[in-house]
Amino acid sequence: MAAMLLPLIVALVFLSSPCSSSDPDPLQDFCVGDLKGAISVNGFPCKLMSEVKPSEFFYDGLTKEGNTSNPFGATVTAANVLAFPALNTLGISMNRVDFAPGGLNPPHLHPRASEAGVVIMGELLVGFVTTDNVFRSKVLKPGEMFVIPRGVVHFQLNVGKGKAMTVTSFNSQMPGAVVLPLNLFASQPSLPNEVLTKAFRVDQNVINEIKSKFG
Ligand SMILES: *[C@@H]1O[C@H](CO)[C@@H](O)[C@H](O)[C@H]1NC(C)=O
Repeated sequence: MAAMLLPLIVALVFLSSPCSSSDPDPLQDFCVGDLKGAISVNGFPCKLMSEVKPSEFFYDGLTKEGNTSNPFGATVTAANVLAFPALNTLGISMNRVDFAPGGLNPPHLHPRASEAGVVIMGELLVGFVTTDNVFRSKVLKPGEMFVIPRGVVHFQLNVGKGKAMTVTSFNSQMPGAVVLPLNLFASQPSLPNEVLTKAFRVDQNVINEIKSKFG
C-alpha cells in the first residue's frame, strides 16, 4: 500500500514546491532553438553547439519603435523564443510596447508567465484585475516598475501628452497572449452570438457591431 502511495506523494510534493518556475529548467548551458527542427518537443530542439555563432546570443529587435498606426494605437514587439531563439529553454523573454498618445495595450493575459515591466518613456496607466474581480492600477512614469501576476487580465493605457514606451520581461520563453477583445470577438470561426449575447447581456446588434470592428 505504502509503495503504491509513494509516487503520488512525490508528485504532490513536487507540484506544491514553492520553487517551481514557469518554464522547465534547462539541462545544459544553452540550447539555441532550431525553429525549423523536424522533431517536436516542449520548446524547440537545440542547434548543434558547434554551429551556434556568438551573434546568436544578441538581439536588436527591440531597438526599433513599433508602428502604432492601428486602432489600438499601440504595438507590441515581442522578443520571445520565436524572434530570439537563444532564449530557448532559459525560461525568460521580453517585449517592447510602443504607444501613440491615447494608445491602449488592450486587456489581455499571459497564460504561461508573470510579467515585470518598466516604463521607459511617457506616462502609462497600468492596471490588472485579479480572479476576485478586484481592480488595481497606478499611473507610472519613466523608471517606475509594475508586476502582473501570471494569467491575470491587465492593460496599459497611455495617459500622457506624448508617446509612451515600456519594456516588459516574462518568466517564460513564450508567455503567449490572450487578447480578450480579439479572443472573444475576432476568433476564427467566430463564437456563436448566443454565447456572447448571454455573456454580456446585450442583444445581437451590439455583438454584431463589435464583431464588425474586427473585420
Ligand atoms: C504603419 O502602419 C500603417 C498601417 O498599416 C501603414 O500605412 C504605414 O505605412 C506604416 N508606417 C511605417 C513607417 O511603416
